Amino acid sequence: MKKYLVIGNPINHSLSPELHNHWIKQNGLDAIYEKRKLDNNDLENLILDIKKGNIKGVNVTVPFKNTIIPFLDDLSIEAKKTHSVNTIHLKNKKVVGHNTDITGFETAIQNIKFDFKKKKIFILGAGGVVPSIIYASVKMGSSEIMISNRTERKAIEIKNIFNNIKLVKWGEIPDFDFVINATSLGLNQDDKINLDFNKVGENKLFYDVIYNPSETNFLRLGKKLGNKCENGKLMFIYQAFSAFKLWHGIEPSINEETIKILDR
Ligand code: ATR
Repeated sequence: MKKYLVIGNPINHSLSPELHNHWIKQNGLDAIYEKRKLDNNDLENLILDIKKGNIKGVNVTVPFKNTIIPFLDDLSIEAKKTHSVNTIHLKNKKVVGHNTDITGFETAIQNIKFDFKKKKIFILGAGGVVPSIIYASVKMGSSEIMISNRTERKAIEIKNIFNNIKLVKWGEIPDFDFVINATSLGLNQDDKINLDFNKVGENKLFYDVIYNPSETNFLRLGKKLGNKCENGKLMFIYQAFSAFKLWHGIEPSINEETIKILDR
């Protein structure tokens, strides 16, 4: 039986096993997908296990998307450009790091028919998924990308990867068309982001990378102020879709049933 993993720390919240095992069963594959909590000093052995064929593929989540890179033999162009890996695959005996968060975000945005061209994007946070959101936003033609993080140093590190982004001081709200919560604030039902959105006006898009809970206080506020709101469910499904296709060579189906798997 072929074994696949998602690694992270913490990892309990991850719904990747539910989604991948659903598709594995649906396609009659002899495989299993599990989650594993790791520490930094476990990464080397994990890669050895992939080389030996004991593990066929790995998804990578917080906090290893960047720290896994030195252990890999090669990177896809997207992983290289974002310094971020969320999918690992053994190809021609080489352990290759890919980034399917980019296509996940892009496809999710195309699905809600929001046109990014010439739009001002305001990103909150500087964690693991932010470089992928920036990369996709540039690709989709946004005119301006702004990023704000409580710890400014981490936002500066991201600005060093992408030159043309603006830093916004945590607490300030610039003029924008599209705001994305990419912080971990909202994972707990009572979490509130201490930013004042009351003057932003209507008809913007409020997007939360968080999909569980399906409506964070951030999205609730956006809706109350008269804006379009969307959670990260489709982004999550589409990044998994691309990883599945890479490993198994099959495009899994996405329908109401798939979406329901993530309703917790
Ligand atoms: P990591 O930072 O380890 O990659 P992440 O979940 O991808 O983890 O990112 C967490 C994000 O949520 C960070 O941008 C973090 O801000 P800091 O860099 O200042 O830690 C942000 N975050 C978490 N708790 C927060 C809080 N109470 N207020 C504001 N931002 C917060």
